[in-house]
Amino acid sequence: MKTQSVFQHHLPVKIHFATETLLDLTPFYSDNDPNFSTLLVISKSVSKIFKQLFAKLPDNFIIYSEVKKNPDCRDIADMAIPTNCNRIIGIGGGSVMDSAKACFARLITHDKYLLRDLINRPELIATASNTRQNFQLHLVPTTFGTSSELTCWGTVWDWQKSEKLSIGHPLLYADQALIYPRLSDTLPEQITAYTGLDTLSHAMESYWNRASTPISRIHCLESIKYCVDTLPHLIKELGKQKYRDKIAIASILAGMAFSQTKTSTAHALSYPLTLQHNIPHGFACSITLGELFQYNYNTAPDIMAPVLKIFQESMGSNSTDFSEIFREFLATCNVTANLRDYWVTKENIPKLAKAAFLPKQTGSMLYQVTEKEIAEIFTAVL
Ligand SMILES: [Fe+2]
Repeated sequence: MKTQSVFQHHLPVKIHFATETLLDLTPFYSDNDPNFSTLLVISKSVSKIFKQLFAKLPDNFIIYSEVKKNPDCRDIADMAIPTNCNRIIGIGGGSVMDSAKACFARLITHDKYLLRDLINRPELIATASNTRQNFQLHLVPTTFGTSSELTCWGTVWDWQKSEKLSIGHPLLYADQALIYPRLSDTLPEQITAYTGLDTLSHAMESYWNRASTPISRIHCLESIKYCVDTLPHLIKELGKQKYRDKIAIASILAGMAFSQTKTSTAHALSYPLTLQHNIPHGFACSITLGELFQYNYNTAPDIMAPVLKIFQESMGSNSTDFSEIFREFLATCNVTANLRDYWVTKENIPKLAKAAFLPKQTGSMLYQVTEKEIAEIFTAVL
């Protein structure tokens, strides 16, 4: 396998993993300074499930529970940050993690800049480097797909302009990621499948990324194996905790990898699917993995062979047609392999391909696809 002679690996997030804990905020009460306030950014569903726990919070814990799915940048810009806030705790799915992180960027820069400017000019976030230690960001995921708790960026959307945006800077790494797999025990089938596929997509996108390193690739392969071996079983037995635990670990491993490399072409192809057809992220970013694999395999078979082997062994297949094995894998997860099931038509493809061709992102993959090839990939999974 080709290796880079110079690389760095920097992940400053403390990971706390506990399989028997549901949600434990008591450590935050013990170091609660009454002179400062804590902003809890949570989802509506989390606020309902833990109603009793949130009713007993210290007075200086302020709750924001209005986070929407695929959050709009305007809503995050309008979030009220309490006076003397020095800590944000985000509890929820990927949209909550990303909202908490974007709000944290506002907090550490003392709300001196517009959120839009923080998004467009990360150097403005860097102005907080001398005072970052006065603030804390703790992230508690309840779905294990985005791994946002381990990355230094967050995805936000401008739904009026039909744009996917990203806010990112190393100062936005969380101080701590609290991983409690039990929080995902009640997730319904489709969210379980799509978040698991998001994790798989991160691991594969990081693996075939030109920025991958010997360290990140180990994390990727382990994550892919956990996903492929576990997700079909979890879909059949949603209540089985040992499978939930494994998917949580797969998500950590994928996060450790793609926090270093970023994502690549499958994610670039997913954004117009979400913006133009409202397709959920986990499905949108994984539907093209089978086709993209084939391009990368043809370019660098020695690098891609271990991924093929994982799928062959797990699926009991000798086929070297990865797109065929991947379709079978999606079927075992009760997930369609066709965009038409989300009402995408042949006529939609040119517009999708044009929007998906982002040379900065698609250029990070081992094989660099053209706009024409992107159209062919969408057609193949139509
Ligand atoms: Fe993703």
